[in-house]
Amino acid sequence: MRVSLVTIFPDMIRAVTEFGVTGRAVETGLLEVCVVNPRDFTEDKHRTVDDRPFGGGPGMVMKVAPLQAAIQFAKERTQDGLTGEAAVETRQTKVIYLSPQGRKLDQAAVEALAQEHALVLVAGRYEGIDERLIAAEVDEQYSIGDYVLSGGELPAMVLLDAVARRLPGVLGHEDSAEQDSFTGDYVNLLDCPHYTRPEVFAGQAVPEVLLSGHHGRIDQWRRKQALGRTWQHRPDLLEARRREQGLSKEEEKLLADYIREHKQQNSDTDA
Ligand SMILES: C[S@@+](CC[C@H](N)C(=O)[O-])C[C@H]1O[C@@H](n2cnc3c(N)ncnc32)[C@H](O)[C@@H]1O
Repeated sequence: MRVSLVTIFPDMIRAVTEFGVTGRAVETGLLEVCVVNPRDFTEDKHRTVDDRPFGGGPGMVMKVAPLQAAIQFAKERTQDGLTGEAAVETRQTKVIYLSPQGRKLDQAAVEALAQEHALVLVAGRYEGIDERLIAAEVDEQYSIGDYVLSGGELPAMVLLDAVARRLPGVLGHEDSAEQDSFTGDYVNLLDCPHYTRPEVFAGQAVPEVLLSGHHGRIDQWRRKQALGRTWQHRPDLLEARRREQGLSKEEEKLLADYIREHKQQNSDTDA
């Protein structure tokens, strides 16, 4: 996948292009990231990228002309060197503006974005972007949560990391995403708890079943924990799971067992 990221702080993006899973994806060419700086499209001596808001008030707005030129250049960059079908598919490159006013980013959106051949991500600064520029250049807006950050770079990197993990070949078998929260078999579910050595830590032993070597029982235990945790911590997700995917008879039973055991444990500690 090709991603052009528009930002006035290009160095920040190294956090995603140079480290860990996403760094490896860039190194192996599965992900190409090109950073475009609106400052390079300014024409004044000070390379100005902000402007005063009409109507007055505190805060600045991103200057329209350099940002528009940067977005258009970023879009063209996703086409560079492509011919034939790849070029046609990439021509439609979606422009995404990271904004607290966008649709909340979730795993379903991430899965859909991972199907794209290319993306342009626009990181805002100051009070944001002129509304008319959004109308002219932006296809979709995503928020990473109901709080305000100082810039769109972190949200753009969050989106990029989540999407990169879903590109074929980026995760090896050993760190497959299929059993992560919200993903694969775990759509609308939280992941089960994980344990590693030592067998006893802080006075607590690892659940015995995980030492049994019995894969069927281990899978069943993990499923039960995932259902139970979702019931405990995210009842809204469990409801969505019931509505959208449905729970099998076995899953209903596992969940009922979990709830009964959980209630029993709580009444034992209260007694
Ligand atoms: C200080 S914010 C501007 C907030 C804007 N005045 C508002 O209240 O909607 C500057 C930039 O940070 C980014 N940003 C801040 N919070 C965000 C969030 N929760 N999700 C995505 N982007 C965010 C956007 O790119 C935004 O243009």
